[in-house]
Amino acid sequence: MATRRSLEPSTLVLPALLLLLFYGAGNAYCSVVSGNTTDRRSLLDFKKAITKDPTGALRSWNDSINYCMWLGVNCSRTHPGRVTVLNLENLSLEGEITPSIGSLTFLKYLDLSNNSLQGNIPDALANCSRLTILDLSSNSLQWNIPGSLSNLGVNIMDFSNNNLTGNIPPTFSNMTQLLAISLAHNHLKGSIPEELGLLPNMVWVILRENRLSGRVPAKLFNLSYLLVLDVRQNMLSGTLPSDIGNLLPSLQVLYLGTNKFEGHIPDSLANASLLQRLDLSSNYF
Ligand SMILES: *[C@@H]1O[C@H](CO)[C@@H](O)[C@H](O)[C@H]1NC(C)=O
Ligand SMILES: *[C@@H]1O[C@H](CO)[C@@H](O)[C@H](O)[C@H]1NC(C)=O
Ligand SMILES: *[C@@H]1O[C@H](CO)[C@@H](O)[C@H](O)[C@H]1NC(C)=O
Ligand SMILES: *[C@@H]1O[C@H](CO)[C@@H](O)[C@H](O)[C@H]1NC(C)=O
Ligand SMILES: *[C@@H]1O[C@H](CO)[C@@H](O)[C@H](O)[C@H]1NC(C)=O
Ligand SMILES: *[C@@H]1O[C@H](CO)[C@@H](O)[C@H](O)[C@H]1NC(C)=O
Ligand SMILES: *[C@@H]1O[C@H](CO)[C@@H](O)[C@H](O)[C@H]1NC(C)=O
Ligand SMILES: *[C@@H]1O[C@H](CO)[C@@H](O)[C@H](O)[C@H]1NC(C)=O
Ligand SMILES: *[C@@H]1O[C@H](CO)[C@@H](O)[C@H](O)[C@H]1NC(C)=O
Ligand SMILES: *[C@@H]1O[C@H](CO)[C@@H](O)[C@H](O)[C@H]1NC(C)=O
Repeated sequence: MATRRSLEPSTLVLPALLLLLFYGAGNAYCSVVSGNTTDRRSLLDFKKAITKDPTGALRSWNDSINYCMWLGVNCSRTHPGRVTVLNLENLSLEGEITPSIGSLTFLKYLDLSNNSLQGNIPDALANCSRLTILDLSSNSLQWNIPGSLSNLGVNIMDFSNNNLTGNIPPTFSNMTQLLAISLAHNHLKGSIPEELGLLPNMVWVILRENRLSGRVPAKLFNLSYLLVLDVRQNMLSGTLPSDIGNLLPSLQVLYLGTNKFEGHIPDSLANASLLQRLDLSSNYF
């Protein structure tokens, strides 16, 4: 999946964690062989909104086989016929993501990365309450990130490389299961919400290449499990906390380059003994 690509540098971070999460997603075929279940209908709705399928990937999405065996689809072992995985990465699909995807309420893993999907991220995704991995990276998605997604208990959320605009929803403080977020390379503006610092388990925070401004919330520099903080190429300002290196004992990657940070480079950085990559370039330090 694209998450590992965009949450670079992947060599430094927890592949084992991802494996663990994938495993939970289940991979059994369902035993319901015929019938128009909700999940089948919502997959067909999804397909209907795909305007181009140059590789013919969705040709297998027909009635000759059970929909649980369609390309990219896995169903639950314990709840036959309920879709748990939809993985359609790298297929050059064009079209939009239909709200009907919200009916896939057993979905744990949604990866539509690296296609040409346009339009908005549907609010209805908020109904996929079991999602743990949500990867919509590398498409051409537009408009705001729906605040309703804050109801999701996702561990990994990757919306990088899209055309998203607006602010980062402060409601994300409700996503207490969030371990990794990438919103890199969009057109997001406004400040980094204070609330993002309230997610104590956060491991990766990747917000580079947006139009974010203002100060980085102090609490974000106080997430003791944080491995990677990448906010390069924004318009962020303010000083770094003098004890940053003591507050972030796990930090491996700190990329603050090409912003408007000022003041001193804190001595305490020397105490972040796991730090392997540091970019403070093009600021006013
Ligand atoms: C989906 O099922 C296939 C075939 O059983 C399996 O190879 C794949 O790992 C499963 N995908 C996920 C994400 O669990
Ligand atoms: C499912 O519905 C479609 C149209 O919505 C219909 O063509 C098809 O025959 C139905 N299949 C079953 C098994 O009921
Ligand atoms: C329907 O899907 C099957 C299985 O993937 C495939 O072999 C077949 O060509 C598809 N039929 C059509 C009409 O595309
Ligand atoms: C998608 O492309 C990336 C980069 O080329 C690759 O690492 C990944 O394995 C691909 N995924 C699939 C399902 O082919
Ligand atoms: C995107 O998918 C294409 C195949 O459609 C693949 O060649 C390319 O490496 C993928 N890019 C990324 C960034 O995964
Ligand atoms: C979620 O599901 C409920 C009940 O099925 C529905 O009323 C609601 O509109 C859905 N929410 C979204 C955002 O689609
Ligand atoms: C994405 O945004 C860029 C810059 O605003 C624009 O040039 C491009 O056409 C947009 N792409 C899509 C698919 O909307
Ligand atoms: C956050 O979650 C709580 C409890 O689940 C809920 O009552 C509250 O409305 C949520 N707030 C937002 C902004 O989503
Ligand atoms: C950092 O977190 C610790 C423990 O959660 C708290 O006691 C401390 O006041 C915080 N410091 C800052 C600068 O936010
Ligand atoms: C580095 O850590 C040591 C031990 O915890 C502490 O005594 C020292 O003050 C720290 N240095 C800085 C510059 O914060």
